[in-house]
Order: sequence, then structure tokens, then C-alpha cells
Amino acid sequence: MSQNAHEEVVRQGRLALAQLNRVVGPSNLITEPSAMAAYESDWTRRFSGKAMAVVRPGSVAEVVEVVRICRSENIPIVPQGGNTGLVGGGVPRSSGDEIVLSTARLRDLSAVDEATLEVTADAGVTLSELQDHAASAGLMVGVDLASRSSATVGGLVATNAGGSLAFKFGPVRQQLVGVEAVLGSGAVVSRLTAARKDNTGYHFPSLLAGSEGTLGLITRARFRLFAAPTHHFVVLLAAKSVDDAIACVGSLRRSTDAIRAVELMLHGGMELVSSLSGSSAPFGQAYPAYVLIEAAGSTDVTDQLIEAVDASPALAVAVGEDPPTRRRLWQYRELHTEAIAVRAADMASVAHKLDVAVPLSRLGDFLEEVKAVVAGAAPSAECYVFGHLGDGNLHINLVGQLGTPDLIDRQILELTTRYGGSISAEHGIGASKAQWLGLTRSAEEIQVMRDIKRALDPAGIMNPGVLFPPS
Ligand code: FAD
Ligand code: MLT
Ligand code: ZN
Repeated sequence: MSQNAHEEVVRQGRLALAQLNRVVGPSNLITEPSAMAAYESDWTRRFSGKAMAVVRPGSVAEVVEVVRICRSENIPIVPQGGNTGLVGGGVPRSSGDEIVLSTARLRDLSAVDEATLEVTADAGVTLSELQDHAASAGLMVGVDLASRSSATVGGLVATNAGGSLAFKFGPVRQQLVGVEAVLGSGAVVSRLTAARKDNTGYHFPSLLAGSEGTLGLITRARFRLFAAPTHHFVVLLAAKSVDDAIACVGSLRRSTDAIRAVELMLHGGMELVSSLSGSSAPFGQAYPAYVLIEAAGSTDVTDQLIEAVDASPALAVAVGEDPPTRRRLWQYRELHTEAIAVRAADMASVAHKLDVAVPLSRLGDFLEEVKAVVAGAAPSAECYVFGHLGDGNLHINLVGQLGTPDLIDRQILELTTRYGGSISAEHGIGASKAQWLGLTRSAEEIQVMRDIKRALDPAGIMNPGVLFPPS
């Protein structure tokens, strides 16, 4: 770039920052490098970049103004909520010419609508704040993730997050009854109506759920809520194989329809969690596979479940009915992500994550083939697998020296498609899987998605490094 052109870019940048400063105020326009650092690296530390600035609007009107300025100055916007995303979708690239638009100041939570059992929340409200708000009204949110204390409403919608309750309630898209967003075009769409039925054209909540910040900035969302269960029952079973763990699940699911979470752990991950948390392993001896099942509802199903456990191939059982015991059993599952991140750091690496789903009936065979791929392509790496067994959703985490991660990704993702599975079950595509989108979406479908993006974000400023394969 010539000296003049460079000076022009710097001048334009300063002009844009001055305009942004007038909208959000100096304390909400962050340009100091050390203050921006936390916004520039993702949770896994695998993705990091450089932002021109971090902008923290405090209202929808300010978001509209920020998007207008970025559009006129051609400045890409990377929306960011809790920065717990696991596919590099919420952090800037290294060009230094993007802004991170943080929703941290969008914090309103409406009263629960007692007639419809729905609630409207601003994008920056965290999942745990939403859960507490629902619980104070005797209700519950049909979404739960271990990142609940930081993950935000905007991020949950943008990634169409799954989590442990997706088995019963489905991903976020199925909890969504309304959304408000400022599109890349500057248009504001707001469908937060409390009317239960609204069949008046394209359904914006469906379109924006899973859009990963590439169509617009979600500013508010309206969720359906559910009656809080009065009876909870958590059981941790040990099994000699994944196939036996799946058989245990079948046995318990036949005994009651109150099951709302079915999670898989394997020996390696259980060992990491036990050593990270300093807690003893759940049973006196190690087992190859474990399944954590939670049932909850308005009736006590303990007897049916215990009978089903007896009829299952479970080798050991731990039961939790009171909250502390339930929490202790859930910790074995919920500490996996953190324990693997610690192990990765111990091996001077970061966790290389794949998030796939395959048909349950073929999951055991699939796992054997995954282990063979890893042993062949990265013999010194460690592979930890866990996930949402009820959805056939496996989180494959590799730590240590991977040699050529792209080769491993290609082999495992091609294997996933051969098994009729999904290359991204719940985390989204982000930056990490954009190059593989063609494994699962046709060229025609990808073009349709690009056409939709061009219509809603004509200048292409919304999260340009995410979702789409490099053209
Ligand atoms: P961010 O990380 O800030 O952003 C994620 C994506 O959404 C980015 O593309 C970003 O640009 C976009 N975005 C964020 N806010 C907006 C907005 N307002 N408008 C438009 N786009 C926006 N995920 C699961 O699905 N299931 C799990 O079980 C699960 N467990 C997790 C456990 C741990 C310990 C961790 C660290 C993460 C886990 N995640 C899980 C991943 C992550 O929590 C989810 O993807 C979550 O939805 C991200 O929310 P966030 O607010 O942190 O989004
Ligand atoms: C989980 O289910 O714990 C998350 O999706 C996080 C992960 O994959 O690490
Ligand atoms: Zn998950």
C-alpha cells in the first residue's frame, strides 16, 4: 500500500473512531491494546486477532448508529457477547481494521409474561441471569450450558446453542418466539410480539438463530419458558463400552418420558476431571464409559428408573436426588471442557475441538474409526471424547502436537458425513470450520446463504470471517 493510501486509511479510521466516540462515549470506545486483549482471543485461545476498537453500545438506538457509521466507513463488525464461543466466531481477524461490537451493556430483562410464560431479554443478559429470572417466577429456561455464567442471550441465539437440555427441549431456535436485530443494512427487524401466533411472512427468529453474527446484531430475544420441575433425579452409570452405555439409555428411556439430559463421558476425560477438581472418581474403579442421565418433572419417577437401571447392562450406579449430590454428579460432565483446556496447556497446546453428531446406532463404530484416524495422523496427541449422547453429539477434543490439524479435521469430518452425521452439531461453523462447509452444504445452498447475506448485509460488514468458505 502506498504511503498516501496508508495515510488515507489512518485518517478514515480516526474519523470513524471520532464518530463512534460521539455515539457511545469515550468509556465505551476501547482502543487501548491491553484493554482490548480480552476481546481479541477466544475462550479456547486457539483464535486471536487485532481489533481497531471495541465498541460497547448501551441501547438499540446506539447499535443502529454504530452500524450506520461502520457501513459508511466500510468497517467490519464482529459481534461479541460472552466470548465463550468455541469456533472462533466472535473474535476479530488479524487485519486490525475490524471493530468488536460488545453487547455487554445491553442488559434489560422484561418481567415474565404470566399469560404466555414468555420473557424478553436484551442480548447481553447471561444465560444464568435468564435462568435465575425464570426461576424467580417458578419457571425454567429450556437451555442449559456449562458456560451459563458468561454465555449471553445474543450469543445463544446467534450460535443456535444446544447444551444438555437440547435432548428434551431442542436447541435455542426452538425456544425462540421473537427476536430484534439491527441488520448489516441498517434495517431494524423487531418481532417481539406477545401474540402466540404470528404468521405474517418470513420468520426472523428462525433466520437469525444460527446466523453467527453474519446477518445482523441481535439486540433482544423473546423465549418461551417452562414449568420448573418439582422432582429431579440424576443417575451416573458405568458401562464396559459405549454400546452398553447406549443400551443403558434405551432401557431408562423406556421407563419414563421425564428424561431431559443424557450425557456421555469416557475413562480419559473422567480421569482429567477427577485430577483437575481433586474429586475422587465416581466409583472405586475406573470404567471405559459413563452415562449421566437426568430426569425431571412433576412426578417422582425414581422407582421406574431404578428398575430400568437394574435391567440395564450398567456395571455401577450413583444416584443424586438432593441438589448438592446432583451438582456433584453433573460436575464430572461439566468440568470436561475446562479440564481438557488445562491438559492442553500442560502439553503446550490448545484444545483442538470437533463437535459432530452421528446416528446413535452407529456411534460405537464411528468412535473406533475416529481413534484410528487420530492414532494415524497424530500419534503423540491425546484424544478426549464426551458429549450429549442423547443427541448423538460427540465433542472430540485433541490436545498436544497435531502435526497437520487440517488433515485430521478433513478425515474426521469426512468420516462424519459418511456416517450420515453433522460436521457441527451445536457450536456453529465460525472461523474454524468455514473451509469444511462444503462437506455438508451443497454449492447451491451456500450460494443461497450468500444471497441472503448480501440482501441483509449488502456491504458485507457483518462478521465477514465467519461461516462462509473463503471464496
Ligand atoms: P460469543 O462467544 O460472544 O459469540 C459467539 C458467536 O455469536 C460469534 O459468531 C458472535 O459473533 C455471535 N454473536 C454473539 N452475540 C451476538 C449478537 N448479539 N448478535 C449477533 N451475533 C452475536 N455451546 C453449546 O452449544 N452447547 C454446550 O453444551 C456448550 N457448552 C460450553 C461449555 C463451556 C465451558 C464453554 C466455554 C462453551 C460452551 N459452549 C457450548 C459454547 C458457547 O458457550 C456457546 O456457543 C454460546 O452460545 C456462546 O455465547 P456467547 O455469548 O459467549 O457468544
Ligand atoms: C460441552 O458440551 O461441554 C460443550 O459443548 C463444550 C465443549 O465442547 O468443550
Ligand atoms: Zn456441548
